[in-house]
Amino acid sequence: MLTVTNLVVRYGTIEALHGISFTVQRGEIVTLIGANGAGKTTTLHAIARIAPPEGPRVVAGDIQFEGKSILGMEAHAVVRDLHMALAPEGRHIFGNLTVEENLTLATYARQDTARIAQDLDLVFRLFPRLAERRRQRSESLSGGEQQMLAVGRALMTGATFLMLDEPSMGLAPLLMYDMFRALRELNAQGMTILLIEQNARVALSFAHRGYVLDTGEITAQGTAAELMANPEVKKAYLGG
Ligand SMILES: Nc1ncnc2c1ncn2[C@@H]1O[C@H](COP(=O)(O)OP(=O)(O)OP(=O)(O)O)[C@@H](O)[C@H]1O
Ligand SMILES: [Mg+2]
Repeated sequence: MLTVTNLVVRYGTIEALHGISFTVQRGEIVTLIGANGAGKTTTLHAIARIAPPEGPRVVAGDIQFEGKSILGMEAHAVVRDLHMALAPEGRHIFGNLTVEENLTLATYARQDTARIAQDLDLVFRLFPRLAERRRQRSESLSGGEQQMLAVGRALMTGATFLMLDEPSMGLAPLLMYDMFRALRELNAQGMTILLIEQNARVALSFAHRGYVLDTGEITAQGTAAELMANPEVKKAYLGG
């Protein structure tokens, strides 16, 4: 479904990815794990076609969706036409709008209006805390609830391919459990998921396959079980 090949990206003159390759098949949960500054967010931004200056510039390699390069596409077209959505790091929600307004705003480019109400029900069923707070201003949500809202917004775009930038960040164990339970349920219904995480243990217990990203290069890959058993991965990312 998604094929990234020898991708090299830069911010200005600084090279952040040095030629990474990976794939995501339809229906899979794939994770990219790596430390701070490894290039995880950069990878998602390149796929989501976030343009410079905020986004990275692709200088070599390719990103293909269903066999076609998407390098010429703009960010809004990736969401509207490929149904790929990013739940960003740091959440980027509109604090002065309510939970429900934030969710509704994410549907602006959709043509399938009949399905929007269904998706809103789905978000509220997956995240009951959001349902209880639907008329609350989003800035007053807890960090974890804002994280849920960011994922909910990505769903409301009508996405069938979700890119998640560290959804577990800052979540207490119970909320993290709720988040991954919701994501697993979405995957069971057919959602393809590309998850990036610093928390390798959480990511590998959730994903089918994974890649290790180390300062702009992929240094290991395999099924989640293979990576969890890999001595180098254990030492560097799983605390021995
Ligand atoms: N907008 C930007 N402009 C310049 N350099 C950037 C920009 N965004 C990221 N970088 C640099 O690119 C490298 C990779 O950053 P990236 O945000 O992709 O890391 P990450 O793996 O997501 O880390 P973290 O786990 O801390 O979120 C870092 O060296 C970072 O300083
Ligand atoms: Mg990041």
